[in-house]
Amino acid sequence: MMTPRVRELLAQRTPGYALVQPFYTDPEVFQADMEGIFYREWLFAIAACELEKNGSYVTHQVGAYGVILVRGADGQIRAFHNTCRHRGSVLCKSEKGNAPKLVCPYHQWTYELDGKLLWARDMGADFDASQFGLRPVHCREVAGLVYICFAQQPPDFDAFADLIRPYLEPHDLNNAKVAVQTSIVENGNWKLVWENNRECYHCGANHPGLCRSFPEDPVVTGGAEGAIPPHIQDHYDRMLAQGLPSQFQMGPDFQYRVARMPLLPGAKSFTMDLKPAVTRHLGRVTDEDAGTLLKYHYPTTWNHFLPDHATLFRVTPLNATQTQVTTKWLVHKDAVEGVDYDVARLSEVWNSTNDEDRRVVEDNQKGINSPAYEPGPYSPVHEESVMEFVEWYIRTMSKQTATVIKAVA
Ligand code: FES
Ligand SMILES: [Fe+2]
Repeated sequence: MMTPRVRELLAQRTPGYALVQPFYTDPEVFQADMEGIFYREWLFAIAACELEKNGSYVTHQVGAYGVILVRGADGQIRAFHNTCRHRGSVLCKSEKGNAPKLVCPYHQWTYELDGKLLWARDMGADFDASQFGLRPVHCREVAGLVYICFAQQPPDFDAFADLIRPYLEPHDLNNAKVAVQTSIVENGNWKLVWENNRECYHCGANHPGLCRSFPEDPVVTGGAEGAIPPHIQDHYDRMLAQGLPSQFQMGPDFQYRVARMPLLPGAKSFTMDLKPAVTRHLGRVTDEDAGTLLKYHYPTTWNHFLPDHATLFRVTPLNATQTQVTTKWLVHKDAVEGVDYDVARLSEVWNSTNDEDRRVVEDNQKGINSPAYEPGPYSPVHEESVMEFVEWYIRTMSKQTATVIKAVA
């Protein structure tokens, strides 16, 4: 609930400064974040290729909501609340699987893959099965990425989808597979995970592996403002000439951004030796100097799309001071492990980077937990994008406050 205290905290914020302690520590603010953001906005869930065939399903938990993502008999991906319409048991207990029907483990009510209730034993002559289909969760797919939304009235998805589709389609994620995935829990508030992600002010001192290939330049890592340096514009132009949209573009209120950026000279991928991690390309981006297509979408995902692979990151808050970060490395579906790629080599740089980020986020949280913590100023050079994130957060939360007040009035 958006309590008066949270409303007051939102209203009191000092622009250009980090947030005050309760935003990073307080269960009341955390609950407001879940209700104001994670239960209302579009959330990245999975790559469509994870549901390999009809009947493939994956489960995901966001706060109180359990969700099943399943590919139907018609090939379409749908999302349902993972709660049976009989007495509410969890329906799918495993993280992933394949099933011709969804059968509740409790009393075996049996659902079609499109959510219709097919069978329920001994429910009496008056029982109308058509009234007890699984409750759907809004679900949209764009260029191989699946997003869900728990809101009754989801916000617009089309503007985002239309913007990113031409950037993503050349990477052909529908013909990808997950080569490897990891899930870590960071002992830090989800906003600290994002603030850390939105700047590379910390990279030089913390990411020796990533800094071999990824520029610390705030123009590459950061926000939209300012003139585009000639070498970046050249990169955009060179890529566009190959049919690859690359120009930096940002959504309203900074909620999402896309841009194809060059890596450091000589770097072809995120590897320690700077060479491609996969010999078989994913998609039709064959120029090894294409760099990385950067995309983020608040509040759940940042991604890199390279000629040889893609990495998808998913942020899931667990409580006020813990956040799960899941990373998936996607390669061409026909790339062969041990021949075209080596899992350890493919995942080495971002595994280390994730762990290094976990450490700095956890140290940040620990320091903020001190009663002596006072918000300090963001760097206008390196932390512009962090300010934009905080701006987006405050505005999105304040909008919810306004809606709540309107509904009550
Ligand atoms: S709760 Fe699912 S069948 Fe009874
Ligand atoms: Fe980092």
